[in-house]
Amino acid sequence: MQTIPLGVSSLHSSRLAYGCWRLAGTWNPAEVTAEGRAAGRRAVITAYEAGYTLFDNADIYCQGEAERILGAALKEVPELRQRVVIATKGGIRPAGDPQAGAPARYDFSAQHLVRACEQSLQRLGIETIDLYMLHRPDYLADPTEVAQAFSQLKDAAKVCYFGVSNFRPTLLTALQAACPMPLVVHQVEISLAKLDAFTDGTLDQCLVENITPLAWSPLAAGLIGAGASRLLPSQKAYRPEKFFPALDAVARARGTSRIVVALAWLLLHPSKILPIIGSTNPDRIQEAATAVELELTREEWYQLLIAARGEPLP
Ligand SMILES: NC(=O)c1ccc[n+]([C@@H]2O[C@H](COP(=O)([O-])OP(=O)(O)OC[C@H]3O[C@@H](n4cnc5c(N)ncnc54)[C@H](OP(=O)(O)O)[C@@H]3O)[C@@H](O)[C@H]2O)c1
Repeated sequence: MQTIPLGVSSLHSSRLAYGCWRLAGTWNPAEVTAEGRAAGRRAVITAYEAGYTLFDNADIYCQGEAERILGAALKEVPELRQRVVIATKGGIRPAGDPQAGAPARYDFSAQHLVRACEQSLQRLGIETIDLYMLHRPDYLADPTEVAQAFSQLKDAAKVCYFGVSNFRPTLLTALQAACPMPLVVHQVEISLAKLDAFTDGTLDQCLVENITPLAWSPLAAGLIGAGASRLLPSQKAYRPEKFFPALDAVARARGTSRIVVALAWLLLHPSKILPIIGSTNPDRIQEAATAVELELTREEWYQLLIAARGEPLP
Protein backbone atom coordinates (compact mmCIF):
# COMPACT_ATOMS: atom_id res chain seq x y z
CA MET A 1 0.00 0.00 0.00
CA GLN A 2 1.24 3.58 -0.62
CA THR A 3 2.59 5.32 2.45
CA ILE A 4 2.56 8.92 3.68
CA PRO A 5 4.52 10.73 6.41
CA LEU A 6 2.61 11.47 9.61
CA GLY A 7 2.62 15.24 10.01
CA VAL A 8 6.16 16.57 10.42
CA SER A 9 7.37 13.33 12.06
CA SER A 10 9.79 10.75 10.69
CA LEU A 11 7.00 8.12 10.92
CA HIS A 12 5.32 6.81 7.77
CA SER A 13 1.97 5.08 7.57
CA SER A 14 0.11 3.11 4.93
CA ARG A 15 -2.65 5.21 3.30
CA LEU A 16 -5.21 3.31 5.44
CA ALA A 17 -4.70 2.53 9.12
CA TYR A 18 -6.07 -0.45 11.02
CA GLY A 19 -8.18 0.19 14.14
CA CYS A 20 -8.11 -2.17 17.14
CA TRP A 21 -11.25 -1.01 18.97
CA ARG A 22 -13.28 -4.10 18.04
CA LEU A 23 -10.44 -6.66 18.23
CA ALA A 24 -11.73 -8.47 21.33
CA GLY A 25 -15.16 -8.99 19.73
CA THR A 26 -16.83 -7.44 22.80
CA TRP A 27 -16.47 -4.30 24.92
CA ASN A 28 -16.76 -6.28 28.15
CA PRO A 29 -13.43 -7.81 29.26
CA ALA A 30 -15.31 -10.48 31.23
CA GLU A 31 -16.73 -11.80 27.94
CA VAL A 32 -13.43 -12.16 26.06
CA THR A 33 -12.78 -15.77 25.04
CA ALA A 34 -9.72 -17.61 23.73
CA GLU A 35 -11.47 -17.83 20.34
CA GLY A 36 -12.16 -14.08 20.43
CA ARG A 37 -8.50 -13.35 21.14
CA ALA A 38 -7.40 -15.66 18.33
CA ALA A 39 -9.81 -13.94 15.90
CA GLY A 40 -8.41 -10.56 17.00
CA ARG A 41 -4.82 -11.69 16.36
CA ARG A 42 -5.89 -13.05 12.96
CA ALA A 43 -7.44 -9.68 12.07
CA VAL A 44 -4.20 -7.86 12.96
CA ILE A 45 -2.09 -10.26 10.94
CA THR A 46 -4.50 -10.08 7.97
CA ALA A 47 -4.25 -6.28 8.06
CA TYR A 48 -0.45 -6.43 8.18
CA GLU A 49 -0.36 -8.86 5.26
CA ALA A 50 -2.76 -6.61 3.31
CA GLY A 51 -0.31 -3.70 3.69
CA TYR A 52 -1.65 -1.74 6.69
CA THR A 53 1.28 -0.32 8.67
CA LEU A 54 -0.41 1.84 11.33
CA PHE A 55 -2.28 0.10 14.17
CA ASP A 56 -4.48 2.37 16.27
CA ASN A 57 -5.38 1.32 19.81
CA ALA A 58 -6.41 2.84 23.17
CA ASP A 59 -6.12 1.82 26.80
CA ILE A 60 -9.90 1.84 27.23
CA TYR A 61 -10.66 -0.50 24.29
CA CYS A 62 -12.21 -3.45 26.11
CA GLN A 63 -10.37 -2.18 29.21
CA GLY A 64 -6.92 -3.03 27.88
CA GLU A 65 -7.83 -6.30 26.11
CA ALA A 66 -7.39 -4.75 22.63
CA GLU A 67 -3.84 -3.68 23.53
CA ARG A 68 -3.12 -7.18 24.89
CA ILE A 69 -4.36 -8.79 21.66
CA LEU A 70 -2.23 -6.46 19.53
CA GLY A 71 0.72 -7.24 21.83
CA ALA A 72 0.15 -10.98 21.33
CA ALA A 73 0.08 -10.51 17.54
CA LEU A 74 3.37 -8.57 17.75
CA LYS A 75 4.88 -11.57 19.54
CA GLU A 76 3.41 -14.06 17.06
CA VAL A 77 4.91 -12.28 14.03
CA PRO A 78 8.32 -11.07 15.19
CA GLU A 79 9.07 -8.83 12.18
CA LEU A 80 5.79 -6.94 12.68
CA ARG A 81 7.03 -4.58 15.42
CA GLN A 82 9.81 -3.12 13.28
CA ARG A 83 7.55 -2.61 10.25
CA VAL A 84 4.51 -0.92 11.72
CA VAL A 85 3.59 2.21 13.63
CA ILE A 86 2.03 1.40 17.01
CA ALA A 87 -0.38 4.12 18.04
CA THR A 88 -2.41 4.21 21.22
CA LYS A 89 -4.40 6.68 23.29
CA GLY A 90 -4.92 7.59 26.93
CA GLY A 91 -6.58 10.22 29.08
CA ILE A 92 -9.99 8.58 29.70
CA ARG A 93 -10.62 6.93 33.05
CA PRO A 94 -13.45 4.44 33.52
CA ALA A 95 -15.99 4.65 36.34
CA GLY A 96 -14.69 3.17 39.58
CA ASP A 97 -11.05 4.09 38.87
CA PRO A 98 -9.36 4.35 41.31
CA GLN A 99 -12.15 3.98 43.86
CA ALA A 100 -15.83 2.96 43.78
CA GLY A 101 -18.06 5.93 43.03
CA ALA A 102 -15.54 7.77 40.82
CA PRO A 103 -17.33 8.73 37.57
CA ALA A 104 -16.10 7.89 34.05
CA ARG A 105 -14.10 11.00 33.18
CA TYR A 106 -11.14 12.55 31.39
CA ASP A 107 -7.80 13.02 33.14
CA PHE A 108 -4.81 14.75 31.54
CA SER A 109 -2.92 15.17 34.82
CA ALA A 110 0.76 14.39 34.28
CA GLN A 111 0.55 11.65 36.89
CA HIS A 112 -2.30 9.87 35.12
CA LEU A 113 -0.91 10.26 31.58
CA VAL A 114 2.51 8.88 32.51
CA ARG A 115 1.01 5.95 34.40
CA ALA A 116 -1.54 5.19 31.64
CA CYS A 117 1.19 5.22 29.01
CA GLU A 118 3.40 2.89 31.06
CA GLN A 119 0.48 0.48 31.47
CA SER A 120 -0.18 0.56 27.70
CA LEU A 121 3.50 -0.28 27.08
CA GLN A 122 3.18 -3.26 29.39
CA ARG A 123 0.02 -4.59 27.74
CA LEU A 124 1.50 -4.12 24.26
CA GLY A 125 4.75 -5.77 25.36
CA ILE A 126 6.92 -3.11 23.67
CA GLU A 127 9.58 -0.63 24.77
CA THR A 128 8.33 2.45 22.92
CA ILE A 129 4.96 3.65 21.61
CA ASP A 130 5.47 5.31 18.21
CA LEU A 131 2.48 7.63 18.50
CA TYR A 132 0.61 8.51 21.71
CA MET A 133 -2.65 10.46 21.52
CA LEU A 134 -4.88 12.21 24.05
CA HIS A 135 -8.21 10.46 23.54
CA ARG A 136 -10.84 13.09 24.36
CA PRO A 137 -10.32 16.62 25.72
CA ASP A 138 -10.14 16.90 29.48
CA TYR A 139 -12.13 19.99 30.52
CA LEU A 140 -9.56 20.58 33.26
CA ALA A 141 -6.49 20.05 31.06
CA ASP A 142 -3.58 22.37 31.77
CA PRO A 143 -1.47 22.53 28.58
CA THR A 144 1.71 23.14 30.60
CA GLU A 145 1.14 20.02 32.67
CA VAL A 146 0.39 17.93 29.55
CA ALA A 147 3.59 19.23 27.94
CA GLN A 148 5.50 18.19 31.04
CA ALA A 149 4.05 14.65 30.85
CA PHE A 150 4.87 14.43 27.14
CA SER A 151 8.47 15.57 27.75
CA GLN A 152 8.88 13.04 30.53
CA LEU A 153 7.60 10.23 28.28
CA LYS A 154 9.76 11.32 25.35
CA ASP A 155 12.93 11.73 27.44
CA ALA A 156 12.41 8.23 28.85
CA ALA A 157 12.05 6.91 25.24
CA LYS A 158 8.59 5.61 26.12
CA VAL A 159 6.94 7.59 23.30
CA CYS A 160 8.34 8.90 19.98
CA TYR A 161 5.58 11.27 18.81
CA PHE A 162 2.34 12.73 20.15
CA GLY A 163 -1.06 13.67 18.81
CA VAL A 164 -4.62 14.38 19.90
CA SER A 165 -8.11 13.09 19.25
CA ASN A 166 -11.53 14.78 19.23
CA PHE A 167 -10.07 18.22 20.01
CA ARG A 168 -11.45 21.59 18.92
CA PRO A 169 -8.89 23.31 16.67
CA THR A 170 -8.48 26.09 19.27
CA LEU A 171 -7.63 23.57 21.98
CA LEU A 172 -5.07 21.90 19.73
CA THR A 173 -3.50 25.33 19.20
CA ALA A 174 -3.41 25.96 22.97
CA LEU A 175 -1.72 22.62 23.62
CA GLN A 176 0.75 23.04 20.76
CA ALA A 177 1.77 26.44 22.13
CA ALA A 178 2.79 24.76 25.40
CA CYS A 179 4.51 21.69 23.88
CA PRO A 180 8.16 21.69 22.80
CA MET A 181 7.45 18.82 20.39
CA PRO A 182 5.07 18.91 17.38
CA LEU A 183 1.61 17.35 17.61
CA VAL A 184 1.65 15.25 14.45
CA VAL A 185 -1.87 13.81 14.13
CA HIS A 186 -5.46 14.69 14.97
CA GLN A 187 -7.86 11.74 15.14
CA VAL A 188 -11.51 12.68 14.61
CA GLU A 189 -14.67 11.08 13.29
CA ILE A 190 -14.99 11.70 9.54
CA SER A 191 -17.22 9.91 7.03
CA LEU A 192 -19.98 10.64 4.57
CA ALA A 193 -22.30 10.41 7.59
CA LYS A 194 -20.18 12.80 9.72
CA LEU A 195 -19.01 15.86 7.80
CA ASP A 196 -18.17 18.29 10.64
CA ALA A 197 -14.37 18.15 10.19
CA PHE A 198 -14.74 19.71 6.72
CA THR A 199 -16.42 22.83 8.07
CA ASP A 200 -15.44 23.25 11.73
CA GLY A 201 -11.81 24.19 11.06
CA THR A 202 -10.30 20.77 11.88
CA LEU A 203 -9.11 19.93 8.37
CA ASP A 204 -8.13 23.56 7.67
CA GLN A 205 -5.85 23.43 10.70
CA CYS A 206 -4.39 20.09 9.57
CA LEU A 207 -3.52 21.68 6.21
CA VAL A 208 -1.98 24.82 7.71
CA GLU A 209 0.01 23.07 10.43
CA ASN A 210 0.91 19.88 8.56
CA ILE A 211 -0.97 17.63 10.96
CA THR A 212 -2.24 14.32 9.58
CA PRO A 213 -5.98 13.79 10.15
CA LEU A 214 -6.90 10.23 11.12
CA ALA A 215 -10.56 9.40 10.42
CA TRP A 216 -12.28 7.17 12.96
CA SER A 217 -15.48 5.29 12.01
CA PRO A 218 -14.82 6.05 8.30
CA LEU A 219 -17.72 3.73 7.41
CA ALA A 220 -19.93 5.21 10.15
CA ALA A 221 -19.19 2.15 12.33
CA GLY A 222 -20.49 -0.16 9.58
CA LEU A 223 -23.70 1.71 8.72
CA ILE A 224 -22.21 2.43 5.28
CA GLY A 225 -21.30 -1.26 4.87
CA ALA A 226 -23.20 -4.42 5.72
CA GLY A 227 -24.48 -2.93 8.95
CA ALA A 228 -23.15 -2.04 12.35
CA SER A 229 -22.87 -4.47 15.21
CA ARG A 230 -22.05 -1.78 17.77
CA LEU A 231 -22.58 1.98 17.47
CA LEU A 232 -21.63 4.83 19.75
CA PRO A 233 -24.72 6.65 21.09
CA SER A 234 -23.97 9.66 18.85
CA GLN A 235 -24.01 7.40 15.77
CA LYS A 236 -27.50 6.04 16.36
CA ALA A 237 -29.08 9.09 14.69
CA TYR A 238 -27.14 8.64 11.40
CA ARG A 239 -29.29 8.01 8.32
CA PRO A 240 -26.81 7.00 5.60
CA GLU A 241 -29.58 5.44 3.48
CA LYS A 242 -30.21 8.92 2.06
CA PHE A 243 -26.87 8.86 0.22
CA PHE A 244 -26.78 5.17 -0.72
CA PRO A 245 -28.29 5.74 -4.21
CA ALA A 246 -25.48 8.20 -5.07
CA LEU A 247 -22.82 5.96 -3.51
CA ASP A 248 -24.13 2.87 -5.29
CA ALA A 249 -24.25 4.71 -8.63
CA VAL A 250 -20.55 5.63 -8.35
CA ALA A 251 -19.71 2.10 -7.15
CA ARG A 252 -21.51 0.56 -10.15
CA ALA A 253 -19.84 2.94 -12.60
CA ARG A 254 -16.40 2.16 -11.12
CA GLY A 255 -17.02 -1.60 -10.79
CA THR A 256 -16.43 -1.63 -7.05
CA SER A 257 -18.34 -1.62 -3.76
CA ARG A 258 -20.06 1.07 -1.73
CA ILE A 259 -17.46 0.91 1.06
CA VAL A 260 -14.52 1.24 -1.31
CA VAL A 261 -16.08 4.40 -2.79
CA ALA A 262 -16.84 5.79 0.70
CA LEU A 263 -13.17 5.32 1.69
CA ALA A 264 -11.84 6.70 -1.62
CA TRP A 265 -14.01 9.77 -0.97
CA LEU A 266 -12.05 10.45 2.24
CA LEU A 267 -8.70 9.76 0.55
CA LEU A 268 -9.17 12.50 -2.06
CA HIS A 269 -9.06 15.39 0.41
CA PRO A 270 -5.78 17.39 0.20
CA SER A 271 -5.17 17.13 3.97
CA LYS A 272 -4.44 13.42 3.31
CA ILE A 273 -7.09 12.00 5.59
CA LEU A 274 -5.99 8.59 6.87
CA PRO A 275 -9.10 6.40 7.37
CA ILE A 276 -8.88 3.88 10.23
CA ILE A 277 -10.52 0.62 9.15
CA GLY A 278 -12.37 -1.06 12.01
CA SER A 279 -13.53 -4.39 10.52
CA THR A 280 -12.30 -7.61 12.11
CA ASN A 281 -13.42 -9.65 9.09
CA PRO A 282 -10.40 -10.68 6.96
CA ASP A 283 -12.26 -10.35 3.62
CA ARG A 284 -13.47 -6.85 4.50
CA ILE A 285 -10.03 -5.76 5.73
CA GLN A 286 -8.62 -6.78 2.34
CA GLU A 287 -11.50 -5.24 0.39
CA ALA A 288 -11.06 -1.89 2.14
CA ALA A 289 -7.39 -1.83 1.13
CA THR A 290 -8.41 -1.62 -2.55
CA ALA A 291 -9.74 1.91 -1.92
CA VAL A 292 -6.21 3.28 -2.31
CA GLU A 293 -6.36 2.33 -6.02
CA LEU A 294 -9.53 4.34 -6.68
CA GLU A 295 -9.16 8.03 -7.46
CA LEU A 296 -12.54 9.74 -7.65
CA THR A 297 -13.13 12.71 -9.92
CA ARG A 298 -14.12 16.10 -8.49
CA GLU A 299 -17.57 15.58 -10.02
CA GLU A 300 -18.00 12.24 -8.26
CA TRP A 301 -16.70 13.72 -5.00
CA TYR A 302 -19.17 16.60 -5.05
CA GLN A 303 -22.02 14.31 -6.14
CA LEU A 304 -21.42 12.31 -2.96
CA LEU A 305 -21.00 15.41 -0.76
CA ILE A 306 -24.31 16.82 -1.96
CA ALA A 307 -26.06 13.47 -1.39
CA ALA A 308 -24.54 13.21 2.11
CA ARG A 309 -25.61 16.80 2.98
CA GLY A 310 -29.10 15.96 1.77
CA GLU A 311 -29.38 19.37 0.10
CA PRO A 312 -27.67 21.24 -2.73
CA LEU A 313 -24.69 23.48 -2.04
CA PRO A 314 -25.54 27.15 -1.41
N1 LIG B 1 -10.60 8.46 18.80
C1 LIG B 1 -11.83 8.04 19.03
O1 LIG B 1 -12.58 8.63 19.81
C2 LIG B 1 -12.31 6.81 18.30
C3 LIG B 1 -13.67 6.42 18.38
C4 LIG B 1 -14.06 5.30 17.69
C5 LIG B 1 -13.13 4.57 16.94
N2 LIG B 1 -11.82 4.95 16.90
C6 LIG B 1 -10.81 4.22 16.09
O2 LIG B 1 -11.31 4.09 14.77
C7 LIG B 1 -11.30 2.73 14.38
C8 LIG B 1 -12.38 2.47 13.37
O3 LIG B 1 -13.68 2.74 13.93
P1 LIG B 1 -14.90 1.83 13.52
O4 LIG B 1 -14.62 0.42 13.91
O5 LIG B 1 -16.16 2.44 14.00
O6 LIG B 1 -14.76 1.95 11.93
P2 LIG B 1 -15.63 1.55 10.66
O7 LIG B 1 -14.66 0.97 9.70
O8 LIG B 1 -16.46 2.71 10.28
O9 LIG B 1 -16.63 0.41 11.16
C9 LIG B 1 -16.25 -0.91 11.38
C10 LIG B 1 -17.50 -1.72 11.64
O10 LIG B 1 -18.23 -1.79 10.43
C11 LIG B 1 -18.62 -3.13 10.18
N3 LIG B 1 -18.77 -3.35 8.73
C12 LIG B 1 -19.93 -3.70 8.13
N4 LIG B 1 -19.76 -3.86 6.81
C13 LIG B 1 -18.48 -3.59 6.55
C14 LIG B 1 -17.73 -3.60 5.36
N5 LIG B 1 -18.26 -3.91 4.18
N6 LIG B 1 -16.42 -3.29 5.44
C15 LIG B 1 -15.86 -2.97 6.63
N7 LIG B 1 -16.53 -2.96 7.82
C16 LIG B 1 -17.84 -3.27 7.76
C17 LIG B 1 -17.50 -3.94 10.80
O11 LIG B 1 -17.98 -5.24 11.08
P3 LIG B 1 -17.07 -6.56 10.79
O12 LIG B 1 -15.97 -6.53 11.81
O13 LIG B 1 -18.04 -7.66 10.97
O14 LIG B 1 -16.57 -6.44 9.37
C18 LIG B 1 -17.21 -3.15 12.07
O15 LIG B 1 -18.14 -3.50 13.09
C19 LIG B 1 -11.40 1.97 15.70
O16 LIG B 1 -10.93 0.64 15.62
C20 LIG B 1 -10.54 2.81 16.60
O17 LIG B 1 -9.18 2.48 16.36
C21 LIG B 1 -11.41 6.07 17.56
